Order: sequence, then structure tokens, then C-alpha cells
Amino acid sequence: MPLSARIDAALQSAIRVGQADPAPAKLAEALAYAVTPGGARIRPTILLSVALACGDSDPGLASAAAAALELIHCASLVHDDLPAFDDAPIRRGKPTVHRAYGEPLAVLTGDSLIILAFDTVATAGAENPARALELTRILARRTGMPFGICAGQGWESEPRIDLAAYHQAKTGALFMAATEMGAVAAGEPAEPWVELGARIGEAFQVADDLRDALESEATLGKPVGQDVRLGRPSAVTEFGVEGAIDRLKNNLAGAIASIPSCPGEAALAEMVRKTAERLTPVRPTIPGE
Ligand code: IPE
Ligand code: IPE
Ligand code: MG
Ligand code: MG
Ligand code: MG
Repeated sequence: MPLSARIDAALQSAIRVGQADPAPAKLAEALAYAVTPGGARIRPTILLSVALACGDSDPGLASAAAAALELIHCASLVHDDLPAFDDAPIRRGKPTVHRAYGEPLAVLTGDSLIILAFDTVATAGAENPARALELTRILARRTGMPFGICAGQGWESEPRIDLAAYHQAKTGALFMAATEMGAVAAGEPAEPWVELGARIGEAFQVADDLRDALESEATLGKPVGQDVRLGRPSAVTEFGVEGAIDRLKNNLAGAIASIPSCPGEAALAEMVRKTAERLTPVRPTIPGE
């Protein structure tokens, strides 16, 4: 089964759990609206690629972990788009959850998806409870305080923001979770996989900052120019376009170099290379260059 089908099937079954009787109808609908159709599904794709590279010895648990990670990501987008944060009207080419369902249901959608993520991992852990416990711990750590998305978003309320800490917590954390959880679901230790996730995560947020500065709403399906409008520190404001592209490339090269030796090393390196191609913008023409 292609990874995308495996991810979609795991997400569908997780969402069905949240929508079962006696769920209130509108919130049940909003759960699916926030998760499907998806974006690039890059985090669960990385998670399953690492699990496969490590032998994928409990595929049900790996699929559940992949779904859980994407549920957390989707929740983070719902909350990130709220008026209290980035106040974004569109996401993935359609109205954001609060625009479609109102703010109370958007807050509850994000909350429900986060809880559903943990339920999904716990429910899939019958055969390997120790792995499920470790997956839960990693997911919690990479989502909350002081290392996770909550910390990352929290930096936006500080008078001074350290760009590296901000990027690592708001975005790097879930990429570290992806590589760590892929290994743990397959019965391998998490630690050797942290650097790969951190490198891809940093590259990914730099690429997101570049797209925010250089691309259009029509191609991205979300508003652009947000970082300047909201006064957010970004790789582009800090290093310029050229400097940001260099940073992106260095991180991607570092990511490939950091892949631990494992049975599926070559296939994993190929996956990271493909991700790198997708993330690297065509170098823009600089006037006078
Ligand atoms: C957007 O993430 C938020 C960031 C961390 C930059 P993605 O670019 O992975 O969003 P989707 O899931 O593909 O829509
Ligand atoms: C990533 O930051 C946000 C999350 C942690 C959800 P952004 O605010 O830059 O993400 P986009 O650009 O809205 O997708
Ligand atoms: Mg934001
Ligand atoms: Mg945003
Ligand atoms: Mg952005």
C-alpha cells in the first residue's frame, strides 16, 4: 500500500472514533473538515518512512502513530489560524475552521484533535504497550511545554524572540517527533533519530518563511506576507532571501548526512532528497546580480 493510502486510512479511522455517537453534529463535521483533504502530509510520511527503514515490526502501531502526529499538526493549524494568533481566512485553499464553523467550534476542534491523537496511540498499543507508552511521551513532549508547539507559539508573546528556539519549538518539534516516533514504533531507540528530524524541521520552517515572502496565496492555499504583517521573526527578515536559501540547503544536506545506519538507509535518503527538491525554491533573480 502506498504511504499516502496508509496515512489516509489511519486518519479516517481515528476521525470516525471522534465522530461516533453521541457526538454533537457540527463539531463532528469540523473534525473531518480540519483534517481532510490534507496538505502534504509530510510529518506522517517521514514517520512511516523511518518506521519502514527500521523494519516496521508493528505496522498497526506505526500507522496509528502517523495518524496521531498528523492530528496534532492539523490541530496546531486550526489554532494557529484563529483571530487570537494569525487571524487567517484560508488554509489548504478553503476557509479556515473558525471562518467555516465559528471560533468556539474551532477551539474545540483543535482541542478534540489533540486528545484524539493520544487516544489513537493508546488504543493501538495492545501488542507493544512499552512502545505505545514511549510514543505517548514523545508526542506529549513535542506538542506541549517547554519543548513543543505550545512553547513555539508562546514565544510570539515574548518581547524578544530567539529565532532558532522559536523555529525549533513551533515546527522542528513535530519533525523530531516524526523521526523519533517512526523508530520507536518499530522497536528502535528514538535518540539516534533526533538530529534528522531537527534538520528537516529547521529546513521546513525556513522554506515556509521563504514561501510566505515569495509566493502567492493562489499557489499556497494560505495567506502570504503574514510574517511581515504580524511582525513575526522569520528566516527571510533575519538572513534575507539568499541567506535563507543557503540555510535551507545546509540543513537539508545535514539531514541526509545524519541518517543513522539502518536496513532501509538508502530508501530513506531518497525520501529526504525528494523532500529537499520540493522545499527548495528556484533561486530568485536579484536585480543587478
Ligand atoms: C504548515 O505546515 C505549518 C508550518 C509548520 C510551516 P505544512 O506546510 O506541513 O502544512 P500542510 O499540512 O501541508 O497544509
Ligand atoms: C507554524 O507557523 C505554525 C504552527 C505551529 C501551526 P506559521 O504561522 O508560519 O504557519 P503557517 O504559515 O500559518 O502555515
Ligand atoms: Mg503562526
Ligand atoms: Mg500561521
Ligand atoms: Mg508561515
